[in-house]
Amino acid sequence: MAQFLPKYTIFTLFLLSFLLQTQSNQFSENLTTKSTGFKREKLTHLHFYFHDIAAGDHPTVVNVAKPPTTNTSDALFGPIYVVDDPLTIGPNLTSKIVGRAQGMYALSSLSEFRLVMSLSYVFTEGKYNGSTLSILGGNSISAPVREMPVVGGSGLFRFARGYAVTKTHFFNATNEEAVVEYDVYVLHY
Ligand SMILES: *[C@@H]1O[C@H](CO)[C@@H](O)[C@H](O)[C@H]1NC(C)=O
Ligand SMILES: *[C@@H]1O[C@H](CO)[C@@H](O)[C@H](O)[C@H]1NC(C)=O
Ligand SMILES: *[C@@H]1O[C@H](CO)[C@@H](O)[C@H](O)[C@H]1NC(C)=O
Ligand SMILES: *[C@@H]1O[C@H](CO)[C@@H](O)[C@H](O)[C@H]1NC(C)=O
Ligand SMILES: *[C@@H]1O[C@H](CO)[C@@H](O)[C@H](O)[C@H]1NC(C)=O
Repeated sequence: MAQFLPKYTIFTLFLLSFLLQTQSNQFSENLTTKSTGFKREKLTHLHFYFHDIAAGDHPTVVNVAKPPTTNTSDALFGPIYVVDDPLTIGPNLTSKIVGRAQGMYALSSLSEFRLVMSLSYVFTEGKYNGSTLSILGGNSISAPVREMPVVGGSGLFRFARGYAVTKTHFFNATNEEAVVEYDVYVLHY
């Protein structure tokens, strides 16, 4: 009898692992927001300053591609930039850093000076440390006020959606630093 026990045990384990595998191979399942901890949707307002520094010893934006036709385009159409821009609590670069905007933007209009930005805003301060917001949209940088959609987020900003209203606050010609004020309104759980 004892010699059949290991065989039986192995068979049970095989059956069990087969059942578990069947379950984990399920492509989709219906969940309730309660069971996953997403209970009540909140509206959060964030206020910070974005610093895009093009020159000097520590640039935070680099031009990675530029077509030869940009020079002859009135709207400077075509170049692509990659950025890792600090976000600060106050307008001065020396004020506390609350995160960084990482990603890219391109001059994407043939007729006006307009960027399309695709950036991940990675927060590093307080309870939002490690949480991110994804902002994707057009930015007519010569307009006094611009609006861009928040299309998602991670961490405390899971399921995020909302919008960012931005204004150029200051331009420092020494290091070609554009200081942009952000008001972000975001719905999340
Ligand atoms: C999820 O819910 C829908 C609608 O109630 C139902 O048709 C579907 O079979 C469910 N899917 C699963 C995987 O339970
Ligand atoms: C475009 O202009 C820049 C700055 O004036 C110059 O350095 C560059 O060589 C020009 N490029 C072309 C393709 O003409
Ligand atoms: C930022 O702070 C520095 C040093 O404290 C100061 O020289 C500079 O004028 C400030 N910039 C602005 C835009 O207030
Ligand atoms: C944010 O999180 C990182 C990684 O967990 C940690 O090293 C850092 O000290 C945290 N910063 C703050 C301000 O809490
Ligand atoms: C402009 O940038 C330079 C170089 O980083 C810095 O020394 C100076 O304080 C800045 N000016 C203002 C008004 O912020």
